[in-house]
Amino acid sequence: MKLTPVQHLLGRLKMPGDKSVSHRAAMISALAKGQTYIENFSSSADCVATLACLQRLGVEIERAGRNVTIIGEGISGLRQPPDTLDCGNSGTTMRLLAGIVAGKDFTTRMVGDDSLSKRPMGRIVDPLQRMGAVITATDGRAPLEIKGRESLWPLSYELPVASAQVKSCVLLAGLMADGKTEVIERTPTRDHTERMLRYFGVQVGFESLAGEPGYRLSVTGPARFTAMERLEIPGDISTAAFFMAGAAVLPGSELFLENVGLNSTRVQIVDVLQRAGANIEITGQTEISNEPVGTIRITGPATRTPLKPALGPLVLSGPVIAQLIDELPILAVLGTQIEGGITIHDAVELRHKESDRIAATVKGLRAMGALVEEHPDGLTVMGPVALKGALIDAHRDHRIAMAFGIAALLAEGETEIDGAEDCVSVSCPDFFELLASVSNETADE
Ligand code: S3P
Repeated sequence: MKLTPVQHLLGRLKMPGDKSVSHRAAMISALAKGQTYIENFSSSADCVATLACLQRLGVEIERAGRNVTIIGEGISGLRQPPDTLDCGNSGTTMRLLAGIVAGKDFTTRMVGDDSLSKRPMGRIVDPLQRMGAVITATDGRAPLEIKGRESLWPLSYELPVASAQVKSCVLLAGLMADGKTEVIERTPTRDHTERMLRYFGVQVGFESLAGEPGYRLSVTGPARFTAMERLEIPGDISTAAFFMAGAAVLPGSELFLENVGLNSTRVQIVDVLQRAGANIEITGQTEISNEPVGTIRITGPATRTPLKPALGPLVLSGPVIAQLIDELPILAVLGTQIEGGITIHDAVELRHKESDRIAATVKGLRAMGALVEEHPDGLTVMGPVALKGALIDAHRDHRIAMAFGIAALLAEGETEIDGAEDCVSVSCPDFFELLASVSNETADE
C-alpha cells in the first residue's frame, strides 16, 4: 500500500459496526433461545472468525452483508465441534469462546494464527481451570484443548490484569456455572459484555468495593435467557479514532462520523484529543441496544499548525490506559503533531497485542524521522516534528497499519506500508476505501 499526503479530510462517514460489541452480540445471541437479528455487524475478519467458530459449535447463522441472523438453542444448545476452532488473529474470539466452551460437556480444540499463538492465554486458563475445566495449553499459549464440564463451579475472581477479554471470559463461563460467579475489577475496562447480557435480560450484579477502588460484577448460573428480536451494533470508535486524528491535524478538515459508539469505557479517545487541542463536538446522542451512540464532528485548524494542549504536555498513564489501549498507536503518531509531543506509560499490555505495539510504533515513527524514546511500558514521542514518507513494516497488525496510514497523510513524500491492505481486514476491511472517500487531493500537487 502506497500513500501520499492529502490536503484535508472532508465528508460524512458511517462507521462500520464495533468489533468488540459484534463479538459479544454473536456469542450471547448463540447462547440465547430463539432468533436474534443483528444489524451493522462488523465485517472484520475477527468477527467473521467468531461466527465461523459458533457455526462449528452447531449454531445456525445466516449472514447477509452487515446483517446477521443467529438462531440460538439456549445455554445447553452447543454441540461438540467436528474439528478444531480456528480463531485466526482474534484474541477476543479465543478468550471469550474459551469461557463458553469451558461450560460444555465436550472437548474443544482452539488454534490461532502465528500472532495469536504467541499471545498469553494463561490469564484465561487459570480462572477456567478453577471453575473445573481441564485445559491443555503450550506454555500458556494456544493451541488450547478445553475439556469442559456441564456445570462449572462458581468462582470469585480478582482480575490480575486489566483486561475486558478476561473479565468477559469469566462472566460468560459464569452463565454456565452452578451458582454466583464474581469478577473483581480494580481498573475499569470496556463493559460491553455486561451491557449486552443486560440487554438480553440477564442480571449482572454491580457492587462498589467498600473504601477501595474498583467493583464486583456477578452473574448467577445456570442463566437461561431468550433471544432479542433485533439488535443494532454501534459504529466502532476505535476505527473512528484514526479518522479523528487525521482530521484534527489537516487544515480545513471537517468530518462527521455518524452512529459512533460512545460507551463511557471507550470514549476516552475523544477527551484525550480535546486535551491535545483538537476541535471535536458530539451531537445527536442516543442509545441503541443498550449502548450510547452519537455523531462526532471533528474540524482541523485553519492552517497547518501543531496542536496545542491547553494544560501542558500530554502524558497518559494510570487507569485511563486500559480504556485507550487500542488507540495508543494512533495517539503516538499524533504526538508528532502536538506541541510537547506525547508520553505514554503503564501500557505494557501493548506488547501483548497482535504485535508488540510499542516496538512497532517506535520503529515506524523513527523511520519517518520522529524522535522517540522507548520505555518498557510505553514511549515518549517528541513533537512537533515534520514526518517524512518511509517504508513501514505493519508487523501484520491492523492497528499499526491504520496508524501509519494516517501518518502517511501527514508526512512529506510517499509512504509504503508493507502488507497494509491484508492486515486492515482484521478490524476494518474497507479502511483505505473509507479514507480515500474523504481525502482531498495531495498537498504537494
Ligand atoms: C477487547 C479488549 C481489549 C482490546 C481488544 C478487544 C475486547 O483487549 O485490546 O482489541 O473486545 O474485549 P484486552 O482485554 O486483552 O485488554
